[in-house]
Amino acid sequence: MPKNISKDKSIRRAKTMAELAVCAVFIGTAVYLGKSCADKARSVPMLEVRKTMVEDVTIPDASDAVDPDKIIFASSSVDTKSKFYGDLILVNNDYPYYSSGEEDLVSIMTLNDETGRSEIFTAVDYDYTILRNVYEPMAQMIEDFYNIYYNDTLIIYGSYRSTDFQEELYNQFTASSEDDGEAPIVAKPGHSEHETGLAFDFSETVNLDYQGTGDFAWINENCYKYGFVERYTEDKEGITEYRKEPWHFRYVGIPHATYMTKNDLCLEEYIDLLRNDHPYEGEHLEITDDEGASYEVYFYPSDDGAETTNVPVPTGYRYEISGNNVDGFIVTVHKDEKVNTGEENITPTAPATTEAETEAVTDADTSGV
Ligand code: DAL
Ligand code: ZN
Repeated sequence: MPKNISKDKSIRRAKTMAELAVCAVFIGTAVYLGKSCADKARSVPMLEVRKTMVEDVTIPDASDAVDPDKIIFASSSVDTKSKFYGDLILVNNDYPYYSSGEEDLVSIMTLNDETGRSEIFTAVDYDYTILRNVYEPMAQMIEDFYNIYYNDTLIIYGSYRSTDFQEELYNQFTASSEDDGEAPIVAKPGHSEHETGLAFDFSETVNLDYQGTGDFAWINENCYKYGFVERYTEDKEGITEYRKEPWHFRYVGIPHATYMTKNDLCLEEYIDLLRNDHPYEGEHLEITDDEGASYEVYFYPSDDGAETTNVPVPTGYRYEISGNNVDGFIVTVHKDEKVNTGEENITPTAPATTEAETEAVTDADTSGV
C-alpha cells in the first residue's frame, strides 16, 4: 500500500478519533448536567419548599407535580394575640388565662335537655356552663360510658368558672385544713383551666366523690378517644404543681390527647415537645388516632413585636391553629381531610380584646375543683 494513502488514512482515523473524543466529552457533559439537574430536582428538601411558600413564592417545584399528597404550605396572617386562645393553651401557675369575656359557653343541662341526655348525666344546676365545642365530646363520652355500664350517677361538679368564683374557691381552700402548703388542689384566680371553659370535674351523685375507679375507670382510660386528658396525675405532680385530681378533665382535641396519653406526657411536657422537637422548620409530629385518622402537628413562634403573625398553614387540607398561651401557635393538619383551597381555614377565633372582664355565672357548690 502506497505510503501517502496510508498517511491519509492515519490522518482520517486521527480526525475521526478526535471527533469521537469531542463527542464523548460533549455527551458526557450533557449526561452529567442532566443527571445533576434531575438529582437536584429530586433532592429539593421539604424544608426548602416549605420555607419558600412561607415567603410567598408560591410556585411549586417539579417534585410537587409528581406527589399529589405532598403538602404545600402558605402563610396565614393571624392576630398575634390569638396565641392566648384555642384548645391547646397552657394555663397553670406560670401562665395565666387572659379571658376575652367572649367565651362561647353553653349550659350543660340545657343541652342535655335538647339532646335527650338528661337521664344519663347531669350538672349541679343550669348555670353550669362549658365551651360549646367541649360539650359534645364530653356528652358523647358519658353516653358511651352509660351504654356500657348503665350507670347514670355522673354529675358535672365543676365546669366554667369566672375569675371571681375561682377567687372565692381559692380563698376557701387556703383558709381550710386542706391547704398543707404542698401541692394545692385549687388554682389561684386567673390561673385555672376552669376559667377557660375547657375543663370540667366529675363527681357522682351517690357519695359526691370521683376517683376514676370501678366503672369510672373506663372514663379515665378512654377519655383520650374523645379529646380529653386527665390533667393532674400523681406522677406529674412535680411538673403540674397540683395534687392528683382523677376527676379533672381537660379538652385538648383527639390527636393531642391520643399522643399525650400514649406517650405519658402532661400538657406542660407536650407544649415543650412541640416547640423543641417539632417546629414548622423541622420534622412535624405525625399522629394517628385510634380510628386511623392521621394528623401532622407543628409549632410556629408568635411574632410578639407585631400585631399579626404569618403562620404557615397547609393548602388543600383541613387544619386548626391554636395558641399555646406561651410563645406561639400549634397547627394541626387533618391529613385525611382534603378541602378546596380557600375553604379549609379553620382558624381559631381571636377575641377582640384580652382584657375584658369575665362575668360571674355561678355561685354553685365549691366541692368540685
Ligand atoms: N383544681 C384545679 C387545679 C383548678 O382549680 O383549676
Ligand atoms: Zn377541676
